[in-house]
Amino acid sequence: MSYPSSVRIVEVGPRDGLQNEAVALNLATKIELINKLAEAGLGYIEAGSFVSPKWIPQMAGSAEVFAGLPVDKSTTYAALTPNMQGLERAIECGVKEVAVFAAASESFSQKNINCSIAESLERFVPVIEKARRSGIAVRGYISCVLGCPYEGTIGPEQVADVASKLLATGCYEVSLGDTIGAGTPACTEALLARLLTELPANKLAVHMHDTYGQALANILVALQHGIAVIDSSVAGLGGCPYAKGASGNVASEDLVYMLNGLGIEHGVNLEKLIAAGNMICAKLNRQNGSKVSIAFQ
Ligand code: HMG
Ligand code: MG
Repeated sequence: MSYPSSVRIVEVGPRDGLQNEAVALNLATKIELINKLAEAGLGYIEAGSFVSPKWIPQMAGSAEVFAGLPVDKSTTYAALTPNMQGLERAIECGVKEVAVFAAASESFSQKNINCSIAESLERFVPVIEKARRSGIAVRGYISCVLGCPYEGTIGPEQVADVASKLLATGCYEVSLGDTIGAGTPACTEALLARLLTELPANKLAVHMHDTYGQALANILVALQHGIAVIDSSVAGLGGCPYAKGASGNVASEDLVYMLNGLGIEHGVNLEKLIAAGNMICAKLNRQNGSKVSIAFQ
C-alpha cells in the first residue's frame, strides 16, 4: 500500500469548531487558540468566517480575530466567504486566503447558504475572480459528499459535477466534506474511485466529521488514494449548525498520531497541539473530543 510522504493539515477548529459552540468565547481566547495552533506547527489555520452574523453569530467577531493575528508568513490564516460581501470584508481585513462553500445536496445548499447549488456556483464566479485579482487564493468546499441530513444518500456523480465546476471556476483545491460524518470506508472508496477518474488527487482534500467514529478510517482510504491534504479540528471541535446532530471533525491530535504511526510527515508537534486542545476545552467547559489527548492525560 502506498501513502503520500507528507501531508498538509488544514486546521479548521477556530472556524468549524467554534461556529458550533454554544459558549461564546472572548476575542483574546480565540486569538490565544490560533496562536497556540500556529506554535504547534500548523501552517494552515482557518481562523474565521465572513458570513451573515444572523446566520452564524459565533463568527461575528472574525474581523477582530484577523486584526489580532500576528503577521506571520509561515502560517496561512484563511476565512470562509460565501459571497461578494464576505470577500470584501475579508479583503479589508488583509486575509490572504479564502474558501467558498457549495454542497452536493440541494436541500443542504438551501439551508446553509439560502440558494440552490447552481446559484451558489454562479455566485462564486465573480467572488473567485475578484479574489484572484487581489492575490488571494481560493479553496472550495463541497458539503454532504457522503450523505445529507435532509436527503440521505448522495451519489458520487453529483459530487464530481460540483467538484469539477469549482476547480474550473478557479478554486485551487476542493475539500470533500462528510458534513454529517455518516460515511464509511466503502463509501469513501466509491466516491474517490469515481472522482479520481477525472480529477487529480493533488486537487482534492478531505474533511471528515466524526459523528459515527469513521473519520480516521475514511482518511486512511483517502491517503491510500494519494490525497495529501487533510482537514481536522483541534480537540475534535465542531459541526455545522445546518446539519443537526453532526459532531466535530476528526480531532487533529488523533490525525497527527495516525500520521506519526504511518511515518507521514506533517510538521506538527503533538504535545503542543494537545496543550492547545486542552486549553480550549477548559475554556469551553467541554470534554476533549480527541482520544489521543485523553490517552496522554
Ligand atoms: P441571505 O439571507 O440569502 O443573504 O444569506 P442576502 O444576500 O439576502 O443578505 C441578507 C442579509 O445578510 C443582509 O443584511 C446582508 O447585508 C447580510 P440585512 O440587510 O438584512 O441587515 N449579509 C452578510 N453579512 C455579513 N457577511 C456576509 C453577508 N452576506 C449577506 N458575507 C448567506 C446568504 C450566504 C449570507 C447566509 O446564508 C450565510 O451567511 N450562510 C452561512 C452559513 C454558514 O456559515 N454555515 C457554516 C459554514 S459551512 C460548513 O460548516 C461546512 C464545511 O465545514 C464543510 C462540511 O463540513 O461539509 C465548510
Ligand atoms: Mg465542516
